[in-house]
Amino acid sequence: MTIVISLINLKGGVGKTTTTIAVAEILAGVFCQKVLVIDLDPQTNATVMLIGEEKWEELNENYHTLSQLFIDAIDPDNRKFDLAQTLQRQVSNVTDVETLDLLPSSLDLVDIQYKLATIPTGKFYALSPIDVLRRGIKPIIDQYDYVLIDCPPNLGIITLNGLQISQSYIIPTIPDLLSTYGIPQVIATVHDFSETIGQKIEPLGIIISKYQADMTLHERVVKELRRYSKDAPVFDTQIPQRQQIAEAAEFLKPHKFSTLKQKWGSVGQFQSYLNLTKEIMKRAVA
Ligand SMILES: Nc1ncnc2c1ncn2[C@@H]1O[C@H](COP(=O)(O)OP(=O)(O)O)[C@@H](O)[C@H]1O
Ligand SMILES: [Mg+2]
Repeated sequence: MTIVISLINLKGGVGKTTTTIAVAEILAGVFCQKVLVIDLDPQTNATVMLIGEEKWEELNENYHTLSQLFIDAIDPDNRKFDLAQTLQRQVSNVTDVETLDLLPSSLDLVDIQYKLATIPTGKFYALSPIDVLRRGIKPIIDQYDYVLIDCPPNLGIITLNGLQISQSYIIPTIPDLLSTYGIPQVIATVHDFSETIGQKIEPLGIIISKYQADMTLHERVVKELRRYSKDAPVFDTQIPQRQQIAEAAEFLKPHKFSTLKQKWGSVGQFQSYLNLTKEIMKRAVA
């Protein structure tokens, strides 16, 4: 069965995208899993990290992004979404990573979010606005061992489309007050949503990212999270704040890294993501 996990936090800049990509690349490159990254964030960071800006622009101009899937739902008489053309196979700029695919995002998702609520009903093909993604990727989802969904920093309709196909979700956070502030709301909202649609969406856990060991604030918030967050237990592995992790976001054509260690950093950074991925795999199948 395909394991589908959403990565979500109401705060931006907390490491959602970086975690999504690192874990996806390790699942594919180290554990030989077939992995699909779905980029639902209009910021398109995951997309650009995996295929670069140039390729993204080309896809966007040709309607080959997930925006088109949602536009089709709003305007079903002029369908243009082409799954085969939109699905980007064997992405990633690491030679070792051969089984990682991507469904790219587009800036247009911002406008679509609001229009989705107005999907015409009454037509026989009318569909629920939270069911668009599930229907759209139905033909391919079974091909994957893991699907990771990089969600936008809100709980709007686009995010609900991602949660709708997820068995679980992960909350990456910087261990500071503003980044952790929305966590109870995420957990409560996803819980309500899951009851409403009659499907389990479990909190897999909280990831401490961009951790700075020399900050007493970080240390204190980590302790509190570990002690109090029973609904979404904190993963043992903490991702440190490191320049090389930030640099891994850059997609420089035609440069390719030969190994994941080279890309993410050999002074413990790769090892942290590797340990984290092992924990995620363990919890996801439990
Ligand atoms: N562990 C880390 N160390 C240093 N920089 C990081 C780390 N994780 C993420 N970053 C950087 O922080 C910024 C925000 O991360 P990102 O993954 O894009 O967050 P989000 O998706 O939650 O907005 C990016 O510039 C990214 O490169
Ligand atoms: Mg992001």
